[in-house]
Order: sequence, then C-alpha cells, then structure tokens
Amino acid sequence: MALLFYSQDDDPHAWGAALRALLPELDLRIWPEIGDRREIEAALVWLPPPGLFASLPGLRAIFSLGAGVDAMLGQEHLPDVPLCRLVDPSLTRTMAEFVLAQVLYYHRDLDLYAAQQQAARWRLRLPQAAASRTVGVMGLGELGGAAARLLAGHGFEVLGWSRTKRTIDGVRTFAGSAGLAPFLARSEMLVCLLPLTAETEGLLDAALFAGLPAGAVLVHVGRGRQLVPADLMAALDTGQLRGAAIDVTPEEPLPADDPLWRHPGVRLTPHVASYAQPATAAATVVENLLRLRRGEPLLAVVDRSRGY
Ligand code: NAP
Ligand code: GLV
Repeated sequence: MALLFYSQDDDPHAWGAALRALLPELDLRIWPEIGDRREIEAALVWLPPPGLFASLPGLRAIFSLGAGVDAMLGQEHLPDVPLCRLVDPSLTRTMAEFVLAQVLYYHRDLDLYAAQQQAARWRLRLPQAAASRTVGVMGLGELGGAAARLLAGHGFEVLGWSRTKRTIDGVRTFAGSAGLAPFLARSEMLVCLLPLTAETEGLLDAALFAGLPAGAVLVHVGRGRQLVPADLMAALDTGQLRGAAIDVTPEEPLPADDPLWRHPGVRLTPHVASYAQPATAAATVVENLLRLRRGEPLLAVVDRSRGY
C-alpha cells in the first residue's frame, strides 16, 4: 500500500522517519517523486493542489496533516473516500498552550505595558486574580476542549460554546444559537476554536463583538474566514474590544498592505498556534493505515454533511 505525502509546510523527511519507525515496510511517496500514481492508496496531505486526488485512481483514504479540513472540503471533485482529520496530542497541547499564552498576555496587562513603554511611562497596575476573569471558548472539540481545561486549571472562570451541548469539568457550557448570547455576554476574553463551515463563516462580526462585555479581548485561532476584519478594527477603535490576538486571517499569507498588520490593537501571528509533531502524530496515521489495510473503520473521519 503506497502512501502519498504532500505538504509545503511540513517536513517530509521528519514525517518519513517517524512513519517508518512505526511501519518499516511503508511505501512512502513524497511529492513530487510519487512514482506510479495507480499504486497510491492513501494520501497524507496539507493544502493539496487542485486536481491531485482526481489523478490517483486507486485512492482509498485521505489523511489530513491538520485538524481543520475546510480547504479540502472546498476542493472540486473530492473523491468519495474517508477523509480523516488529524487528532494528535502534540497538536492539542501546542494549541492549548498558545491560547493560554495569549490569554495570560492580556490578563497580566502586557498589552498595556507595551503601550506604556512606547510612551516611556512607568505606571503600575495591580494584577487581577485569574478567578476574577471569565474566558469564553467557542468550539469545545479536541482543541477547544483542551484549551478550556487548561484555562480552567489555571484558575480562570471558563465558559464554553458548541453546536451540541458538551460537559467539561470546571467549564460552564452553552450550546447552539440560543446559547450564544448568554455565553458572549459574560466572555471578557473570547477564544475562537471553531471549524470553518457555512455556519461559522463571518461569525466574528460587529454583531458578535457588540454582544461581548465592553473592553473584551479576542483570541482568534480558528480559521481566517470566520473573522470580518473591518468589524474587528471598528470594534477596537471604539474600545468595545481592548485587543485581539489573530493567528488566522481571511487571506494567508496576509498581504503586506493589509491594515490588520498595522492596527495597534492587533497582535498577529502567521497561523502557528499549533502544529503536530511527526514523532507523536505518526502513530495516528499509522493506526489508520493499518485499519485501512484490515478493512476496519478509520479514526477521526470527517462528517461531510456537518462540514467538520
Ligand atoms: P473538532 O474536534 O471537530 O471540534 C469542533 C468544535 O466546534 C465542536 O465542539 C463543535 O461542536 C463546534 N462547532 C462546530 N460548528 C459549530 C457551530 N456552528 N456552532 C457552535 N459550535 C460549533 O475540531 P478541533 O480539532 O477542536 O479543531 C477546531 C478548529 O481549530 C479546526 O477546524 C481549525 O479550523 C482550527 N485549527 C487552527 C489551528 C491554528 O494553528 N490556528 C490549528 C489547528 C486547528 P460539537 O461539539 O457540537 O460538535
Ligand atoms: C491547522 O490550522 C490545522 O487545521 O491543523
């Protein structure tokens, strides 16, 4: 069974070594040296070029190198084979720690001290207890659930919102459109960890920001097209939002002339909130390859009708 590897962002040699350590007989074909396309039965990919899957007549499964599969689902002629997302402890841990880092940045007023430094202003602000701060997490799946647990473990009051009702120890949860307004109304820091779907596209807009407490903070680590940047900058300008840590943008890479780069209330990172380490993530891929070989149901299969 040959496995195709395609990614411009991941290291194929690190992945090859990690996969072969678990499955020495693996026939791995790293793009563009993929040999006879008819022999490829599975593809491990991130942002594959249009038409790639259609050129693989023996393809039986697609494994994403990321948790979000919106780009793949948006492709024309996506073959009707199981599409599996990446669920991996290193991806989950790095996301939860990134979210905690951003929340702590604002919680400890580091944005205000950065501004004070620009003005050479020495002014002490007494720190607040984490327990007095409420953080709302949108999306309570693999990543959002882990982020919510880490934040709660750190002492924050944590709220969570998902499509269907979830139960997480130490987290007060809300669900569906009816749960959104009461969830937002108490979220002084809002973390977005939703998948991009028809329902979540453009969700982070003026109406949503208006539903947050005045001076709230946004930590956006979901997908860029969930955000309406003009609405974000307007909410920052009026003070409805105090600041925003933005890891994902509607266009990536973000063009150099985009005003988001220069808005004083925005902290930008280039879609780096979390990455899977091949050393751990290879185990998930190998488990699915073995299941495919044995004809067993695969893990982390995307529900195409739900869109995630
Ligand atoms: P997941 O396990 O599938 O969880 C998705 C969560 O979102 C679930 O709780 C789901 O609700 C909720 N949800 C989906 N649609 C919703 C809606 N319309 N309204 C309310 N809640 C909704 O996904 P994950 O592994 O946690 O990943 C989440 C997303 O993070 C990915 O799709 C990707 O976009 C993003 N991501 C970003 C980075 C980065 O570096 N910035 C890295 C990895 C992933 P239910 O619980 O009811 O199903
Ligand atoms: C990265 O954005 C991912 O979806 O894993």
